[in-house]
Amino acid sequence: MKIAFFDTKPYDKPSFDKYGEKAGVEFKYFETKLNKDTVELAQGFDGVCVFVNDTVDAYVIDRLVELGVKVVALRCAGFNNVDMKHAFGKIHVLRVPAYSPYAVAEHAMALLLTSIRRIHKAYIRTKDFNFSLSGLTGFDLYGKTVGVIGTGRIGRVFIDICRGFGMKILAYDKFPSEGLDNGDTIRYTELDELFEKSDIISLHCPLTEETHHIIDKKALEKCKKGVVILNTSRGALVDAEALLEAIKSRKVGAACLDVYEEESDFFFEDYSGHIMEDDTLARLISMPNVIVTSHQAFLTEEALSNIAETTVNNIVQYLSVSQCPNELCYRSGNTVDCKDGKCF
Ligand code: NAI
Repeated sequence: MKIAFFDTKPYDKPSFDKYGEKAGVEFKYFETKLNKDTVELAQGFDGVCVFVNDTVDAYVIDRLVELGVKVVALRCAGFNNVDMKHAFGKIHVLRVPAYSPYAVAEHAMALLLTSIRRIHKAYIRTKDFNFSLSGLTGFDLYGKTVGVIGTGRIGRVFIDICRGFGMKILAYDKFPSEGLDNGDTIRYTELDELFEKSDIISLHCPLTEETHHIIDKKALEKCKKGVVILNTSRGALVDAEALLEAIKSRKVGAACLDVYEEESDFFFEDYSGHIMEDDTLARLISMPNVIVTSHQAFLTEEALSNIAETTVNNIVQYLSVSQCPNELCYRSGNTVDCKDGKCF
């Protein structure tokens, strides 16, 4: 089985080579992202393996089908970069639904603590033998209310971590998890109440038409003054311009962003020697109360190993028996996990 692997980074290869060799899957690594300009590279391959910023739109899907490619193996959970409506019935799309919810939830808490205890400032100061504490005052997490939007795998681990800090949880989910609401420290609520009462808001829902800009100007107006916004899910959940304005007006106290709406132009690459073309990103990064990491939340050894193992299993299962439990399909306007493991 020959798979074209797009948007390769050095940390991808060891685990994919390990699991690929065991299963007889040969990966050809391309550094470029998959898009309309690079799709021809997929010629002669059984499948393509793609990540969050590869573009699997209608054009790319049609061309992959013409080239005889049978499967798109996502090495991630999110699939907002795939036109699932167009793909359905033409090419099979497999994903890794879960690889380490702990990796992402722990990164979210790391960002939160760094931000509110000013660790990013203190680190630079003490490196320069500046031991002054002025301007480093933080606040306790104990007793604070965190609004968690999306209570799936990652959201629930994040809730557990927050409970360890003695925080109260206001949760919102389109499909609430049974048994999570204890009527006291963890309570499901409507979005408006979550916005009005949360000291911190953390996003853990997928990016869909419904959740696009779920944090926008109107939502931010409803929030408490000084609210901390945490986004480790997908960039376009937050209207970055509105966030910037709310930071400038002091409505938002801090923002921790592992993802950014226009991240595919910059994230995962070294732009240190370049002029930053995106004014909003540049302005956000320049703020003392904003921390940006470059879609790093998933990046732990455990997650990389799980991603490679599941992706290879998905490919082998699909290409050998035309069936895979981690296949996605598009039904009645929604992308869903394929229940019977065989979509079409
Ligand atoms: P999951 O599928 O287990 O949970 C998502 C939750 O969001 C579900 O409970 C679902 O009911 C809920 N949801 C769906 N539509 C909603 C809506 N309109 N409003 C509110 N809630 C809604 O997914 P998981 O594994 O917890 O991942 C969550 C997200 O985290 C992924 O969609 C992905 O975008 C992001 N992610 C980010 C990573 C990173 O490195 N920064 C790595 C992995 C995932």
